[in-house]
Amino acid sequence: MDKKILIAYFSWSGNTKYIAEKIHSQVGGDMFRIETAVPYPSDYNEAAYGVAKKQHEEGTKPELKDNGNISGYDVIFVGTPAWWYEMAPAVKTFLSENNFEGKTIIPFITHGGGGKYTIAEDMGKMTNAKTLEPLVVYGKGDSNTDTQIKEWLNKLGF
Ligand SMILES: Cc1cc2nc3c(=O)[nH]c(=O)nc-3n(C[C@H](O)[C@H](O)[C@H](O)COP(=O)(O)O)c2cc1C
Repeated sequence: MDKKILIAYFSWSGNTKYIAEKIHSQVGGDMFRIETAVPYPSDYNEAAYGVAKKQHEEGTKPELKDNGNISGYDVIFVGTPAWWYEMAPAVKTFLSENNFEGKTIIPFITHGGGGKYTIAEDMGKMTNAKTLEPLVVYGKGDSNTDTQIKEWLNKLGF
């Protein structure tokens, strides 16, 4: 594939980063880690039930350390954990601070048992980008995950 690829992801406890790296090892391209200007607390309860829950309830798009620059890319893989039934707030900021016109988004989602929710559809709605079928992984995956990723990428034409 001669398209320029970016793999952008947010990851708090490492699962989505782990999957991002697996995708990268198969498709190449550049990687961009989405990070908030103010880091989340490292304590799970403080992060999940404090800051993140409040941001979910209020629809906050937290300021990022770096909004990223997607202008040179055709295909942007966008990775997020499921946070309170939706994409992580930092990913909302990333999507709204970049212009996805004419680009393709390929979502990948890690979750703790709830699945993909409407995260992929929401990415499409937020950006008007062509949005392809998401990869959905429980936690950081298992021994079948490499095959799952390979099959998913093959289906998408990689
Ligand atoms: C703030 C917060 C909210 C979460 N909300 C959900 C949820 O609504 N549904 C779900 O299945 N898992 C939920 N989880 C679990 C994460 O989606 C799961 O552990 C994910 O793989 C974490 O990715 P990460 O390690 O890249 O941060 C939540 C975790 C956190 C910290």
